[in-house]
Amino acid sequence: MNFDFDTFPDRRPTSSTKWNRHAGRDVIPMWVADMDFRCAPAIVDALRRRVEHGIFGYTDPPAELAPAVCEALVRDYGWTADPEWIVWLPSLVVGLNVVSRALADADEEVLTALPIYPPFLSAPRNAQRLLRTVDLVQSADGRRWEWDWDALERAVTPRTRLLLLCHPHNPTGRAWTRDELERLAGFANRHGLLVASDEIHCGLLLEPGRTHVPFASLDADVTARTVTLMSASKTFNLPTLGCAFAIASDAAMRTRIRRAMAGIVHHVGGLGYTATLAAYREGQSWQRALVEYLRGNRDLVEAGIAALPGLKTWHVEATYLAWIDARELELPDPVAHFEAAGVGLYDGAQFGAPGFLRLNFACPRPLLREALARIRTAVHR
Ligand SMILES: Cc1ncc(COP(=O)(O)O)c(C=O)c1O
Repeated sequence: MNFDFDTFPDRRPTSSTKWNRHAGRDVIPMWVADMDFRCAPAIVDALRRRVEHGIFGYTDPPAELAPAVCEALVRDYGWTADPEWIVWLPSLVVGLNVVSRALADADEEVLTALPIYPPFLSAPRNAQRLLRTVDLVQSADGRRWEWDWDALERAVTPRTRLLLLCHPHNPTGRAWTRDELERLAGFANRHGLLVASDEIHCGLLLEPGRTHVPFASLDADVTARTVTLMSASKTFNLPTLGCAFAIASDAAMRTRIRRAMAGIVHHVGGLGYTATLAAYREGQSWQRALVEYLRGNRDLVEAGIAALPGLKTWHVEATYLAWIDARELELPDPVAHFEAAGVGLYDGAQFGAPGFLRLNFACPRPLLREALARIRTAVHR
């Protein structure tokens, strides 16, 4: 089946967060992480059927949903999880905030690595837990971002309790290898840390032949100390439908998560369940076509940025996000500079990395080409 990723309907009449930001200006929005693609037809059909029913009363998770998620985890990653392990959440950011409260006590510390998707920084702060950070480093050949194992060891204190892991990694586009994950697991084990692994981008591995390895799938001990946070929303472009989930094999951990949510976190909306079920059951062919399209976009971005003086980017193994180092250009305000040329990028400062920019390339290729031409103009300005 052919899917159209080259055209998309005008998003401005839908109060799109992405397109609202530069309303009234000729700026191509490439900041927040959603896609300028219509989602899989199977999902639209399922939603249409549900909308036509016309009654939108309180809705439980459909009985077949958790088993469908688990079937997809086996099918896609060879990971066997029990449907009982799933706790439904209205968003993954909610999940990051909930685990920061639930899995570290008030006097315990949370650890993560920079640069990082901003809610990893705000969630521990919101929970009034001390956050320690280490910097990811560039490999010796400068081609990819890696863990600084010594810095990680140095950052641990007797109070460190929770490691917030982003896998695949937003914003560097790394899909951590099994070796790296095993080393992280050994580190967590040695220091008695729990791990919350945000795997929202797991369906967007762009490297042919590579498969996402869920952190919790490494072995039984890792499964027991990990909460995996997932959602169909990134891969299938459903963030406004508000459905995500935590997977925790440890019943006590699930109880702590549910307690932290009680009375505060709203249940998932029925349309979110409908879309998630259709995504995991019927979304595969669309997802394959999407990944192929994104791979083409990624190659364009990497070649386009490599050709420009003063900018550097890295190979994007997963996600539709390119991480760009603009420090050599010595711009007082990099975001404003590129916006003035008609491209809206995300400010690296919010990821803990001033002077960097994040570019979302999940858009039709003609729009991407235009954006890259504008970036070229901005660099030479
Ligand atoms: C790593 C990561 N986690 C969480 C989210 C947001 O998830 P949600 O919209 O379900 O809160 C994003 C969105 O870009 C993300 O990149």
